[in-house]
Amino acid sequence: MDRITTSDIREMKKRGEKIVMMTAYDAPTARLVEDGGAEVILVGDTLGMVVLGYDSTLPVTMEDMIHHTKAVMRGSTRALVVGDMPFMSYQTGWQDAMKNAARFMQEAGCGAVKLEGGKRSAEIVGKLTAAGIPVMGHIGLTQQSVNQFGGWKVQGKTPAAAVQLMHDAQALEQAGAFAIVLELVPAPLAELLTQRLSVPTIGIGAGVHCDGQVQVFHDMVGLFDAFVPKHAKRYTDAGASIREALKQYTAEVKSGAFPDAKHSFKMDPAALAELRPPGHQLTRRHALGLDV
Ligand code: KIV
Repeated sequence: MDRITTSDIREMKKRGEKIVMMTAYDAPTARLVEDGGAEVILVGDTLGMVVLGYDSTLPVTMEDMIHHTKAVMRGSTRALVVGDMPFMSYQTGWQDAMKNAARFMQEAGCGAVKLEGGKRSAEIVGKLTAAGIPVMGHIGLTQQSVNQFGGWKVQGKTPAAAVQLMHDAQALEQAGAFAIVLELVPAPLAELLTQRLSVPTIGIGAGVHCDGQVQVFHDMVGLFDAFVPKHAKRYTDAGASIREALKQYTAEVKSGAFPDAKHSFKMDPAALAELRPPGHQLTRRHALGLDV
């Protein structure tokens, strides 16, 4: 089956059909997310926090991103996979941006890249799209600039900041971005941006009127405990059921209840008898392979 393309995503906005994007960082999660109905899988640099154990996205490298994006490509067949360009893989100039974006396309085989920043990233977005690399923009609370923002704060709340965000969004659209993520933007402003832009907006903490939504997988399913962002909805608590299962496993190993006969392998009693001293009696547990 052919993968969803950036043109399909743009067509969805025209039809008024909501776009579902979720993050994934490995093959089994990519399969789950695709089975769950996502049209777009983002291999986000949130990888650094929810999988690699860093306390921000800043330490994530190109090598990390390529490694995980390859896994997501192997685990999915239909979704458009977007590789997130990590900190300092494009901020250092368009030549670095071109080289690193090309790695996502050539080595990982994904369908598009995402990078953060509005006007200041527009030139790079223009060069990448001119070279045939589809780019998703990302404005609002962009995590790679969290130190500049002074924390995780909603953006665009004052008239001046809202106008700035509008200019940022328009600059990305003009530069050729095929979609724009709006992160932590007041819902009415996100609605206005969605109406004014011809390309789809994908919201995270940006209200219901965006053309699509993105959520971080580990937040949605309860696998990230450090904090739960206000914009994240926990649809299940997989962390709790996994913890319960692991406690049961520990108890069964300690008591000898696991492994039982169903999870053990038998041996031909005649072959086993040859290993035993003459006169040694085989028990049922020996025949099941539970004792040697
Ligand atoms: O890295 C990521 O997962 C993201 C989303 C929060 C949009 O950029």
